[in-house]
Amino acid sequence: MHNIRNFAIIAHIDHGKSTLADRLLELTGMVKAGEHNEQMLDRNPISRERGITIKLAPVRMEFRVHNLELRINNNNNSIQNSEFYILNLIDTPGHVDFSYEVDRTLACVEGVILLVDATQGIQAQTISNAYKAIEKNLVIIPVINKIDMVNAQIEQTQQQLIDFLGVTKEEILLVSAKTGEGVRGLLDCVIERIPPPNIIPIFNDPFDKAQGKQLLTKTLKNITDKNEPLKALIFDSYYDPHRGVIAFLRVFSGNVKGGMKVRLCQSQKTIDILETGIFTPDLLAKVSLNDGEIGYIATNLKDIHQVDVGDTVVNEKSNNTPLPGYKKTKPMVYASIFTTDTADYLNLKKALEKLYLNDSSLQFNSIYSKALGAGFRVGFLGLLHADVVRERLEREHNLSLVLTPPQVEYEKRGEMFMEPIVKIFLITPNQYTGTVMQLCENYRAKFITMDNKNQITLTYEMPLSEMIADFYDRLKSVSSGYASLDWELLRFEPVKADKMLLLLNSEPVEEFSEIVVQERSYEKASHLVKKMREIIPRQQYEIKIQAQYKGKIIASERISPFRKDVLIKSGKVIGTGDVGRKKKLLEKQKEGKKKMKMIGRVEIPKDAFLKLFNKNS
Ligand code: GTP
Repeated sequence: MHNIRNFAIIAHIDHGKSTLADRLLELTGMVKAGEHNEQMLDRNPISRERGITIKLAPVRMEFRVHNLELRINNNNNSIQNSEFYILNLIDTPGHVDFSYEVDRTLACVEGVILLVDATQGIQAQTISNAYKAIEKNLVIIPVINKIDMVNAQIEQTQQQLIDFLGVTKEEILLVSAKTGEGVRGLLDCVIERIPPPNIIPIFNDPFDKAQGKQLLTKTLKNITDKNEPLKALIFDSYYDPHRGVIAFLRVFSGNVKGGMKVRLCQSQKTIDILETGIFTPDLLAKVSLNDGEIGYIATNLKDIHQVDVGDTVVNEKSNNTPLPGYKKTKPMVYASIFTTDTADYLNLKKALEKLYLNDSSLQFNSIYSKALGAGFRVGFLGLLHADVVRERLEREHNLSLVLTPPQVEYEKRGEMFMEPIVKIFLITPNQYTGTVMQLCENYRAKFITMDNKNQITLTYEMPLSEMIADFYDRLKSVSSGYASLDWELLRFEPVKADKMLLLLNSEPVEEFSEIVVQERSYEKASHLVKKMREIIPRQQYEIKIQAQYKGKIIASERISPFRKDVLIKSGKVIGTGDVGRKKKLLEKQKEGKKKMKMIGRVEIPKDAFLKLFNKNS
């Protein structure tokens, strides 16, 4: 076990995690340079196109050290001068929607590479990810990437890392994941600074852990007990039609092999293990996975929702306690999804079921809308997750969809509404601080802290409903694209809220009604009725559009009647002689009617829903 190093790369989006992973794979001979796709570990097509890792990927590399001087070995008996190393790297998803997976990944490793783009400096996710690593007592190797770029600000970024982590300049590595410069030195550093599994470094100061070298002089506590029974942590999974759910895990004690009967502590599910193995990054069977190793188990289970990320695998009969940190993932935002052609409903159902098989965080229930027909209410981890699911439904399943804007779910305790509150981290260059703070005020945010080094770090508490409105877009716009944001769920808090109903000629229309906080009720109501007035065409009778909140009408508009006969133009009947033209006009009117939906007595064009739900229109 002394020759194993388990580590992850953490960074802000686009700082170069996947590119660095490619170079590490090449250096360790896992793949040949120029003979593989870029960003090997990022194989999801949508992920590649968007340039965002949305699925984490582990890989086991084997590395023979030739010229490395292992400075640590002289001081430390528990790390021996071995020549051969097993390096388990987990490339983590960069987006905040997947932060629970990142959290569980960090629970499976002993150290991290904290990668910072030299052209961007420390950004919001750099900070929130580093905090997660610090909380878990992991060794942090600070690395500045993209040093080949002409606009790289190496000294400034070094200073930011020195201020943030308390490291010395010498401890920060400089690399270019693109050209490969400095990457070999980084690999040596992973072996030197990150302890082998089950060795807990004891730090006097929480920031010592960033100082890899200081680790050498600290006490290392060996917590391995050879007789301990199996305990392994699941950090990811996917569904394989032949071998059932494949669960990725880190063994913390004991061992696991094919043919064994094991139990999942949280779900209480028993599993007959078909096979165990490692990641090359493809799956490669291996007789057993031992203490300290990272690999997979094939479970033969048909439902991915039975294998939760964060669950602990133990021997079937053992009453071992689960590893800490488990959380049931819950959707954060919900949207209703309909097909534009109601005949496609069953195809949508099949497509969702297929995605559900492989997405443990997707949830959906069927719903019915008078206007849009049968559809589904779907729960997502966040806005990116919602967008990726929509794109997969449309692209992989060839569906044309209407999606309501994602909303948060309010909990109801008696008569009281509880709303989700998130903690947000913002990083902005100095000159935008004022406008960014003003923006936060406008989004019902509560100021918590401000840290003023060479950039400003702000923390706020903010209702999730405000953040998913258009906060991120506005933040980018007021800071000319420079500010960055990360967030985490804090708690549910009581809020004055109620359902706002949209009435068309006094009849409520569910599709346009939602829970709204009191503070936003007038603003939302007047926006909604105005928008409806724009998109509903005049009809033969008057249409009253009203927004009702807590039993009172708080905004209203009206559309005056219009005799909608296409054969009358400017009050004159079109010439009776031209039968062909008359027929054409009547057909056009009939065609138009097909595109209308009756809500009570009011006709609404179908694309009104698209117009209303599409943020950009
Ligand atoms: P997420 O998966 O979205 O978190 O991104 P990532 O951190 O994995 O970043 P990725 O490896 O996709 O790199 C982002 C962009 O930066 C890509 O266009 C890379 O080619 C580029 N890039 C990464 N490292 C370097 C580098 O050292 N130098 C230069 N010039 N470009 C780099």
